[in-house]
Amino acid sequence: MQQQGFVIWFTGLSGAGKTTISHILEERLRAAGHNVESLDGDVVRTNLSKGLGFSREDRDTNIRRIGFVAHLLARNGVAVICSAISPYRSTRAEVRSLIGDNNFIEVYADCPIEICATRDGKVEMYEKARRGEIKEFTGVSDPYEPPQQPDVHVRTNTETAHESAQHVLDHLAERSLLREPAASRAS
Ligand code: ADX
Repeated sequence: MQQQGFVIWFTGLSGAGKTTISHILEERLRAAGHNVESLDGDVVRTNLSKGLGFSREDRDTNIRRIGFVAHLLARNGVAVICSAISPYRSTRAEVRSLIGDNNFIEVYADCPIEICATRDGKVEMYEKARRGEIKEFTGVSDPYEPPQQPDVHVRTNTETAHESAQHVLDHLAERSLLREPAASRAS
């Protein structure tokens, strides 16, 4: 029997830690025997979504593309990790319904914007956004709609990335989506 695929869908501000947690999860899931693929907003925007900007329409197109590919992979047994800001609630709901409730895990990477703005590689971008040199910047001059009932809520300013990854793994184990009971193994 083919193993069950699923989609771990991160949402959160730029600098909230989505990519960092994703990398840890990717490794842990592989170690547990899953086939894993990651679709990261910053990476997808250099190929599949190259040329798209940050208007609502372009962000929605980006999210729908990521959701479409994730769906194809998950239905073939892959554990898919998506990490894009995905700021709009209704667009995330659309992707959830495409993939199906049972196989969709929404993870809210929650972090105050003042902290996100201090994180590696993000300082200059937030400064430019504040000065208006980057327009439509999420959380500064563009909306972010936090999930009301995320499947997993990680607070990246008060827990380590490894702890956040563990919360996701625990949730997968609870839903019997993990291949082996690796959830409590030290990383
Ligand atoms: S999404 O809104 O379409 O989900 P996505 O996650 O793909 O966004 O891309 C966000 C990344 O693009 C950020 O991490 C940041 O590096 C960069 N970026 C550049 N301009 C913006 C902007 N106006 N708003 C948010 N992120 C931006």
